[in-house]
Amino acid sequence: MDASAEMRPGRALVERLLARASVPPRLLGPPAPSPEDLALAAAAALRAPDHGRLRPWRFVLIAGEARAALGGLLAESLARRDPDASPERLDLERAKPLRAPLVVAAGAALRHDHPSVPVWEQQASAAAGTMNFLNALDALGHGAIWLSSGALEDAAVKRALGFAASDMLLGWLYVGTPAPERPRPARPDPQDVLRIWTPQAMS
Ligand SMILES: Cc1cc2nc3c(=O)[nH]c(=O)nc-3n(C[C@H](O)[C@H](O)[C@H](O)COP(=O)(O)O)c2cc1C
Repeated sequence: MDASAEMRPGRALVERLLARASVPPRLLGPPAPSPEDLALAAAAALRAPDHGRLRPWRFVLIAGEARAALGGLLAESLARRDPDASPERLDLERAKPLRAPLVVAAGAALRHDHPSVPVWEQQASAAAGTMNFLNALDALGHGAIWLSSGALEDAAVKRALGFAASDMLLGWLYVGTPAPERPRPARPDPQDVLRIWTPQAMS
């Protein structure tokens, strides 16, 4: 590597990105990030590429008592999707949001009628923003993980969280203070995903 790369100020930022790792809910305790840190994370999300400046990013913060209400929504959603779900399974679903001090519903407000920006690009922008949000929280010393569930596609859940049925919920971000034994997984070799394209001679 170019020796000067070690000296560049941005190198520390990249090292921080390389250290990011998800923290499972069972290793997330209080406190939740401060409003200032959440605003910083949201500001980082707003730096994601955004074709047409449609600003699709939405982050709904669910903390304190509101987590129990979210649990109720999740259990109702599961009961709709699986009418045979046992009471124990429904209780598990209801308790999920209580596992971390903060749950963030990461969503995308989508324009389905845009003449030049397809929906998938808006979803990609929202996902990129969500990753920036997670990276910022991690860099500030918080723990987080991006989880999904069938409830993300439930129009009633979307509506209850302030989204239109035509919007997208990308995931549940569980956020808190990481326990010391948080995972530090080994990562693949970056050379595995780098390719140098060699154009074939035109015949
Ligand atoms: C859109 C999305 C949905 C995910 N949903 C789940 C999930 O429901 N359950 C799960 O265990 N991991 C899920 N993951 C993966 C975790 O967020 C995380 O990446 C994984 O635990 C590996 O940890 P790492 O991020 O440190 O590599 C999801 C990731 C993405 C991008």
